Amino acid sequence: MKTHFNLANSSYDLIANALNDDGYIVLPKFLPDELTEQLYQHVSTIPEQEFKVAGIGRNQSFQLNDKIRSDRTRWLSSFDPVEQAYLSIMDDCRQQLNQQLFLGLRDYEAHFAHYKEGSYYQRHVDAFHGRSNRLVTTVFYLNPDWDQQDGGELIIYHNDSSNTVCRVLPEFGTMVVFLSEQFPHEVLTSMRDRYSIAGWFRGDMAHVN
Ligand code: OGA
Ligand code: MN
Repeated sequence: MKTHFNLANSSYDLIANALNDDGYIVLPKFLPDELTEQLYQHVSTIPEQEFKVAGIGRNQSFQLNDKIRSDRTRWLSSFDPVEQAYLSIMDDCRQQLNQQLFLGLRDYEAHFAHYKEGSYYQRHVDAFHGRSNRLVTTVFYLNPDWDQQDGGELIIYHNDSSNTVCRVLPEFGTMVVFLSEQFPHEVLTSMRDRYSIAGWFRGDMAHVN
């Protein structure tokens, strides 16, 4: 099984330029098919009990809130070769972004998210202004043959308004990247199992998850 992959530098250039201009980008077929396939096989076999009720906030401000979100999450770690392959690409990405932008991205953390039928994540922001925690959000989708009728679209809004910037179907191999502080977003109710990898480039070091 191949566990080390390199992306063309042009992929990272696209992200850097987009973050500089619009602040977001949607990239279909972001990873080599072989790796997307491996991630999909892998996430499909993670036992359901490893996915935990996701919370909002961390530490003291951590709350479980199934009104706001009803997905289940499981952190990636470098101990698993397939997870490591993904994390190492995202670390390459982090270094490239640091060379081209001045965001000072120090770390990357990511979790698999499983939305069962009926699950959603209401409008929210991943980070708050003035804290250099989550600076750039990435979401990578692992759902073959996704259809409009399956719901589960990601809707990205303009800051402080109900105007939509874009709607993304969570299709197999699609990557979305956006500035965490600037774009409120939501996940519409999913009509079938929906898998994604949500991740964040941070300005500080992630806690051990
Ligand atoms: C998140 C999130 C979006 C998605 O986990 O914070 O907004 O499309 N996920 O899965
Ligand atoms: Mn989010």
